[in-house]
Amino acid sequence: MRLAVVGYGRMGRAVAELAVARGHVIQATFGRADNVNGAGLTSSALADVDVAVEFTRPEAVVANLERLLDAGIPTLTGTTGWTAELPRIVRLVESQRGALLHAANFSIGVQLFLRAARDLASRFAGRPGFDAFILEQHHAAKVDAPSGTALALRELLRDADRAHHFPITSVRAGSIPGTHTVTYDGPDDAVTLSHVARGRRGFAAGALDAAEWLPGHPGVHTFESMLFGGTG
Ligand SMILES: NC(=O)c1ccc[n+]([C@@H]2O[C@H](COP(=O)([O-])OP(=O)(O)OC[C@H]3O[C@@H](n4cnc5c(N)ncnc54)[C@H](OP(=O)(O)O)[C@@H]3O)[C@@H](O)[C@H]2O)c1
Repeated sequence: MRLAVVGYGRMGRAVAELAVARGHVIQATFGRADNVNGAGLTSSALADVDVAVEFTRPEAVVANLERLLDAGIPTLTGTTGWTAELPRIVRLVESQRGALLHAANFSIGVQLFLRAARDLASRFAGRPGFDAFILEQHHAAKVDAPSGTALALRELLRDADRAHHFPITSVRAGSIPGTHTVTYDGPDDAVTLSHVARGRRGFAAGALDAAEWLPGHPGVHTFESMLFGGTG
């Protein structure tokens, strides 16, 4: 498979490294300097690309997606912090019959953690005497807070347990790859469910699995819908 890697930072490099190890070809890479407002993502620069993998920044991702969709490239993005623009991008994908897969978290462990958290919340729903909260911790350079994963976690917890609001505390410090915890805390005991990422390899592996799957699957997908079925 021939990949374009848009955003050659921590995640872009991790995906590219793993892609080469799996025998794929990095056909093109795009950094901020050569791609202001997505201007580098032309049809000729993307010639022969089977799929694009986009990990940039909240202020850059939307223009990148527009340009990649215009060029007809199946595109995966893991960039977080742009959910307000998602409905417009979904309409664009549908009108252009393109293919987009987006996810705030490409770790399979996180996707299973989210399901376990939903189960936990449904069991605590209606039980008085517990406070519930989310703690998420990431490295100091992460721009958005709360994390996209924490926001998704809160939404599904609220759906399962309407009595709690699940306030989120965000920590940005050091080199933490990503930790998410949901706690039910009562006067006599506490229950905590955590996902702890050990590095970027898990995110890169999931993103590459999704990139390998995406060509031939038009429409809008999430990593969750790819793994477990259902709509994106
Ligand atoms: N979905 C997941 O599983 C997952 C996992 C980890 C991270 N993320 C998210 O992925 C995004 C990237 O994370 P990261 O850790 O890789 O960040 P990063 O190391 O800061 O990398 C982002 C890269 O994008 C570049 N960039 C900025 N604007 C661009 C543009 N218009 N075109 C091309 N490249 C551009 C930046 O260049 P400059 O440095 O020159 O600005 C930087 O190299 C963040 O939103 C993060 O929250 C998602």
